Amino acid sequence: MATSTSADISGAESIARANRARSYINFDEPAPMLETVASLAPPVTAQPATRLDEPRLVTTQPLVVVRNLAKHYGAVTSVAGVDFVAYPGEVLGIVGESGSGKSTVLRLLNFEEPPDEGATYQINIDAYRELNLFDLDRFSKRELRIYNIGIVYQNSHHGLRMRNTSSGNVAERLILAGEREYSRLRSVSKQSLAVSEFPVDRMDDLPMRLSGGMQQRVQLAKAIALKPKLLLLDEPTTGLDVSVQALVLDTLKRLQRQWGITMIIVSHDLGVIRMLADRVIVMRHGRVVESGLTDQVLEDPQAAYTQQLVHAKL
Ligand SMILES: Nc1ncnc2c1ncn2[C@@H]1O[C@H](COP(=O)(O)OP(=O)(O)OP(=O)(O)O)[C@@H](O)[C@H]1O
Ligand SMILES: [Mg+2]
Repeated sequence: MATSTSADISGAESIARANRARSYINFDEPAPMLETVASLAPPVTAQPATRLDEPRLVTTQPLVVVRNLAKHYGAVTSVAGVDFVAYPGEVLGIVGESGSGKSTVLRLLNFEEPPDEGATYQINIDAYRELNLFDLDRFSKRELRIYNIGIVYQNSHHGLRMRNTSSGNVAERLILAGEREYSRLRSVSKQSLAVSEFPVDRMDDLPMRLSGGMQQRVQLAKAIALKPKLLLLDEPTTGLDVSVQALVLDTLKRLQRQWGITMIIVSHDLGVIRMLADRVIVMRHGRVVESGLTDQVLEDPQAAYTQQLVHAKL
């Protein structure tokens, strides 16, 4: 696997320019999964294909490749030697008991803190291809987060400013991307809230006056306003009423189907994982103990720990 250091990064400004050229959310656009797949270059190291019958799927590269991800807090092992990939348009689930390192994985992928040395994180987007994202400078990480990575936290207090309006929270992301025109900030925020199935007549309300389900929709609107390639979801429906939970899951599913956004969703709820995730990784004590297709892992768990987890939920 090729890795790079920040010294290899040719021009953070070219990354910035490529990002700024992207358009805002647009309902009428074709599904980005098609764009994503179409924009995937053949593997750099691959030899020219000599067989015409080579299966198409085999050459599809993952959008995200994570290797040897680790994080220690003093003597506490939060994450240790975690490897996974996420393919364009797929939903990857992460399950595991409390304290198994699930949220830490998402925080690391969102550059909220650095991992232990030796971890690599790659994303198959033109400007970043072949780079180890953990080695990018602060500016490039910020650009990547603004334009290509969205996150929804379990606790909306982490993801939202409770004293700003809901539309203001979404607009904040657009402002970070350089948008200054008020009418445009407002219309794009409104559109993003609508796509997240937030009742737009409440867009001027403060999040603290909204229900938990609505707050999660504001977080979602903020996360997807710039159509990220990767959406990180940390227990997005935990704590919500079951019926509200189902509605939020429906919204996520629709977004994934229509836009083909790649999602990594953390949940301790196997029902959520079963409904949304194509593949799942099971974590315990910071390590991956099992991974595979969701149906396979949940129907026929191999690791003793997964068996326990599945049976506890029956
Ligand atoms: N900032 C921190 N400082 C010290 N220890 C931390 C920190 N963040 C996480 N940890 C520790 O890392 C381990 C994994 O935490 P993490 O929050 O990733 O677990 P989790 O799988 O998301 O759990 P939960 O299901 O309860 O949300 C825990 O032992 C936790 O105490
Ligand atoms: Mg957590």
